[in-house]
Amino acid sequence: MRTLIPSAMVALTLFSCAPKTGRSPVYLNPSAPLEDRVEDALSRMTLEEKVAMTHAQSKFSSAGVPRLGIPELWHTDGPHGIRPEVLWDEWDQAGWTNDSCTAFPALVNLAATWDRELSRLYGDCIGQEARYRGKDILLGPGINMGRTPLNGRTFEYMGEDPYLAGELVVPYVQGVQANGVAACVKHFAVNNQETRRTATNSVVDDRTLYEIYLPAFRKAVTEGGAWAIMGSYNLYNGQFNCHNKKLLCDILKGEWGFDGVVVSDWGGCRDDDEAVSNGLDIEMGTWTNGLRGAASDSYSNYHLARPFLERLRDGRATAEQLDDKARRILRTVFRTAMSPEPHYGSFTSPEHFAAARKIAAEGLVLLKNDGTLPLSVPEGGKLLVVGENAYKMMVVGGGSSNLKTKYEVIPLDALHEVYDGKVQVEWQRGYVGDVTTDYNKVVTGQDLSESRSAARLLEDAVSAAREADVVLYIGGLNKSAGQDNEGTDRADIVLPYGQDALIEALAEVSSRLVVVNISGSPVAMPWADRVNAIVQGWYGGSESGHALVDVLTGAVNPSGKLPFTMPLSLSDGPLKTERQYPGVKEEGKQWWQEYYDEGVFVGYRWYDTRQIPVQYPFGHGLSYTRFEYSDASVKKAADGWKVQLTVKNTGEVAGAEVVQLYIADREASVERPAKELKGFEKVYLQPSESRKVSFMIGREDLSFFDAARHAWVAEPGDFEALVGSSSADIRARLEFKL
Ligand code: BGC
Repeated sequence: MRTLIPSAMVALTLFSCAPKTGRSPVYLNPSAPLEDRVEDALSRMTLEEKVAMTHAQSKFSSAGVPRLGIPELWHTDGPHGIRPEVLWDEWDQAGWTNDSCTAFPALVNLAATWDRELSRLYGDCIGQEARYRGKDILLGPGINMGRTPLNGRTFEYMGEDPYLAGELVVPYVQGVQANGVAACVKHFAVNNQETRRTATNSVVDDRTLYEIYLPAFRKAVTEGGAWAIMGSYNLYNGQFNCHNKKLLCDILKGEWGFDGVVVSDWGGCRDDDEAVSNGLDIEMGTWTNGLRGAASDSYSNYHLARPFLERLRDGRATAEQLDDKARRILRTVFRTAMSPEPHYGSFTSPEHFAAARKIAAEGLVLLKNDGTLPLSVPEGGKLLVVGENAYKMMVVGGGSSNLKTKYEVIPLDALHEVYDGKVQVEWQRGYVGDVTTDYNKVVTGQDLSESRSAARLLEDAVSAAREADVVLYIGGLNKSAGQDNEGTDRADIVLPYGQDALIEALAEVSSRLVVVNISGSPVAMPWADRVNAIVQGWYGGSESGHALVDVLTGAVNPSGKLPFTMPLSLSDGPLKTERQYPGVKEEGKQWWQEYYDEGVFVGYRWYDTRQIPVQYPFGHGLSYTRFEYSDASVKKAADGWKVQLTVKNTGEVAGAEVVQLYIADREASVERPAKELKGFEKVYLQPSESRKVSFMIGREDLSFFDAARHAWVAEPGDFEALVGSSSADIRARLEFKL
């Protein structure tokens, strides 16, 4: 049988496609109002076309309307760079050669900058990369709160404080979306661990939900104007979050007026009826259900595919339900792929790598320094570098944030760049950590095999240290399972691979020992008193080595501040029982239950209120210069209170200080944290320069969430405005009354 279409017929078909009138339809008119375009497109679509848009058609795309020229939506991880192209139905990279991206620093590194402008720059750059790669929805940023330091995805999030994360997520979202790419803020909500992430019900009271776990999401939506939100894998209120009525319908789309699209986490949609009714708009996943395996004709078996169509046809689902989803998806298309302004983006530009380097460096946190930093090694002297993380490439791995980057500068190479010809740089591995060098077929090309025993590695490092002028230890965690990695949590905050013993042994023989801990989450530092300086490093992306060496040598003066508490030990933290973490299996209940019994007391809210000593407090970070605070005052203003102070750089080099404002409620009808962050400003100052910093405090900054009234309440009484350099280093306490 002939299947080719005769050429005369092709001509006829083409002719019949030509527009019948000179005017193009409203939905194609880029200058028509968004809602007019949406309604016009909707009116032209069939039921089947609308349903087709509500579920995946491949691993990372959902359907458009081919007949009308409405493009598909292309989704991409996120959140640290543009994920390499994967196969249609597989996680493995597709082997394209044009998709090696700029790897930006992990979001925890961005959070440690405490810099709104850098967050905007980050968003803008990654938005440009997404647009250039033809992506419409960037699956990020992630802003779940650091409830436990063990959460394997802490590195992908923005720390333990809702105000800090909220302030930084807004410019990130705006930066991304300025490029006609939707930021898909994830994972909504109360998704704070990887252990049994698809089978755990988070039991959280409303006060805790509204005060700790929702504010950053709310800001992303109401101030950042996020166009997309990703539901999380876990359950809340006994219902899976990708179709959770309270979270999606009542709060997100109700209270916050979100008009964008809710995307499921991959395979996170679990129920035919709830998928239709409870606020989900696009179901993404793998096969029939990304978590449970394959089936033929898989995408039409999605909850929002054939089952949805059946429901629409037999009346169990309504046209209104379908149209609401279709409208939101069309809105997303007209904001992105068919945006009124043309956006073309750019990819791996020198500007993007420069931005990655700047953000990485500005987020490095100087935890301790006795003057050993910035490094000074005598001409012709020896700098001994110890530790696997000086050498191991870190962009590859970690889960869905895995990237294929054009290049990655490792710390050791960056040190050679600076010191070769002047100082002898020697590397000793010291321990063996993670020897894997590929993830989803993205390979680093490094050879991390090792034949020496653990004892021999330690011995080699220690004897080399005896001969060195300065010892620079670069270790910490990595992105293997059980470390900073999606899908698993850590078992403890103790450094793995015997690193504590190694650092102690180095401290015995070196009087100039600098430790760089590279991790995305808190670690214990029992040796802190015995080393000369400590830098908290992160997964810094393509330019991580350069950024670290910029700070170590003093080319960049460190100004990062911890976005989470560095506790002394795990047992000091607020999660004391199994029912709090990782959850318990209860008689008669299908899912694991996890009780947020600690309430609002997470992170520094816990340690400060209970007066538990920590290794390094939230907001802590030193500089190579000094800052003096003076003239702090609080005054009543028309719409609140104005706090003012002067900060002066009293040292010899230029630097930046993050001035932090905390509020303490001295008398309240509910137990409130000892203090809560309500403002911060990063101030860059030349030596001897001073600057006035001011903050406005409004009633909302004094409020707690009263669950019984379902309202924010500021109770009259005494308050304090605390200004300082960290949550523990308070330089002025200013009393005022409401
Ligand atoms: C992760 C998401 C990610 C998605 C797509 C999921 O497993 O939880 O954060 O965006 O996969 O890769």
